[in-house]
Amino acid sequence: MPLPTLSPTCIVSTGMFVPERILTNADLQQIVDTTDEWILTRTGIRERRIAAPGELPSDMGAKAAQQALAEAGIVPEDIDLILVATITGDCAFPSTACFLQHKIGATRAAALDLQAACSGFLYGMVVADQFLRSGAARTILLVGAERLSSVVDWTDRATCVLFGDGAGAAVLQRRDNRPGLLSFDLGSNGSHHAMLHLQHAYSQISFGHSPVPDSCIPKMFMAGREVFKQAVNAMAKSAQNALADAGLGIADLKAVISHQANIRIIEALAEKLKVPADKCFVNVHRYGNISAACIPVALHEARAEMNLQRGDKLLLVGFGGGLTWASIVLEW
Ligand code: ACO
Repeated sequence: MPLPTLSPTCIVSTGMFVPERILTNADLQQIVDTTDEWILTRTGIRERRIAAPGELPSDMGAKAAQQALAEAGIVPEDIDLILVATITGDCAFPSTACFLQHKIGATRAAALDLQAACSGFLYGMVVADQFLRSGAARTILLVGAERLSSVVDWTDRATCVLFGDGAGAAVLQRRDNRPGLLSFDLGSNGSHHAMLHLQHAYSQISFGHSPVPDSCIPKMFMAGREVFKQAVNAMAKSAQNALADAGLGIADLKAVISHQANIRIIEALAEKLKVPADKCFVNVHRYGNISAACIPVALHEARAEMNLQRGDKLLLVGFGGGLTWASIVLEW
């Protein structure tokens, strides 16, 4: 979908937070039958962050949000709407967005969670764009926050090596004379729902009741090889759609920031789209797959590591359970 260019929705600022505890591939060798060599060559992951007991997605999201608010030069009371993309929210309800609203003191803000698995942050950006362009909101805080360590099966070596915890945030507004979103492409294919799923009913906060025993928390399932193929094909097609709608080609882009699930997926996508390696941002080696937090954390780090400047064109591409996929082309 091409977007009107007059005062488009722009990313005013970004922030990120990852827990202190680092779990390396060597540490995982003590937990399951695996090796650093297998994990590194199959996934590109060297380490991931693991939240401390009681460190909730809303805590991590609040810290990422506070960094983004400080950079934007706005106070929490300026926020009209908080959107949190997550598949591992603090509770079934209230929403993680409500916990976060309280933690940062955004007293004027409406708050809700949205869920499109690893594509959640980009879906959130498109939802935010509708509120901003219609005038229903002026300032939106969008957060991706995950505690995947709670839902990973730590006895399944095929999945437990892949995921981590963390959060990323962005402040979105429309500002005169500032570039922003140029186009987007969203899609889903629910017929593949079983390929990647997590059953319902877990809680990460106890409200004074007995905490849910770990043995009762459902664990994530992923048919990795099938998901791999779907991810590469869907992301390539989605990226091409969004680029065509923006009237841009790969040569126009400064950077491609894609979902950080596996270095081989990132490389296969780059090959399909013919993106030179130096345009592809990669941080999967540091954090593994942090689902809805992947893209905002990558965007935050890419700004410094790829020296992004105003006017640079970016392609953001996500893919996740559902299946869902999303692409956004924007001018930074
Ligand atoms: N250590 C050692 N051996 C392992 C490990 C491990 N951690 N995990 C699996 N193996 C073994 C398997 O048992 C298998 O052994 P076998 O041949 O004797 O049966 C062998 O390695 C190959 O297993 P595959 O699953 O075929 O390995 P593959 O090369 O496909 O890599 C992986 C698996 C990394 C999961 C890959 O398929 C992948 O990245 N898939 C996509 C993940 C993704 O994109 N997720 C995005 C969405 S996530 C979300 O939405 C929440």
